[in-house]
Amino acid sequence: MEKELDSNVLNEWFAVSPASRLDSAEPVHTTLLGTPIALWRDREGALHAAGRMEGWQHGDKYRVQQRYGFIWVCLGTPRKELFALPEFDEPGRRFINAGTFGVKTSGLRIIENFLDMGHFPYVHTDILGKDPHSEVADYKITTDPDTGEIWATECRFWQPKAAASADGGLDVAYTYRVTQAFSAILYKTCPAREGARDVIGVYVQPVSEDECKATLWLLLFDDDASDTEIIGFQQTIFAQDRPILENQLPKLLPLGMKSEIPTRADAGSMAYRRWLREIGMQYGVQKTA
Ligand SMILES: [Fe+2]
Repeated sequence: MEKELDSNVLNEWFAVSPASRLDSAEPVHTTLLGTPIALWRDREGALHAAGRMEGWQHGDKYRVQQRYGFIWVCLGTPRKELFALPEFDEPGRRFINAGTFGVKTSGLRIIENFLDMGHFPYVHTDILGKDPHSEVADYKITTDPDTGEIWATECRFWQPKAAASADGGLDVAYTYRVTQAFSAILYKTCPAREGARDVIGVYVQPVSEDECKATLWLLLFDDDASDTEIIGFQQTIFAQDRPILENQLPKLLPLGMKSEIPTRADAGSMAYRRWLREIGMQYGVQKTA
């Protein structure tokens, strides 16, 4: 018997495809939370998402919407509107989809890793960090009472090559925003434009509890670097993270109090785990006996 899905994921929106993939007449097939789904656009341009049951036309219909360059699906009843992303409509920003990567681990581990600055000098050596600049200075963590989002502000880190457009080392300011349990965004110093922030995000589609697809995207002020250069830069970074993510054990994220003391204390990751515990997240977390 199929066990009931945690309402934290059942009633949540997930990005399951770039919007551009639905331009052809062919439906897109994917799996969300263990459920095979099909997505298509009808002749009038309306979006559809359905489960498989004697052909896709007759399966369960799911809520679907197009936002921020992606197709979002909710298998249950959405608890709230999708998060705001005003930068998507900001003039001058380039939207770049840097690709979707299958990762054999809990999607929650992708977000935890995304929030962790401590690994930069060791995993992204000479790009996002370099010894002896390994100290993660204290930063502020707050939870927005209106949206429930976690914000980490006033983060700073010295980076040898902060972006495709960076010519040299830079003391980079970061703001992290956990928009959903399976999505997060960071705002960081834009090397190409004084005072501006680049926006980089990750949307995680849980395929199952211990397998996911991570989509990386950017909204940049960068008139020089080509899409290929920017995508190549992000893919290099993610190729360094991926084996580490896949080797982390257990694959499901432990949320017990004992796991609260990591060897490398990181305030952002810890706040994220605490928040998952508070909302009672069951999906993709290690079940305690
Ligand atoms: Fe990383």
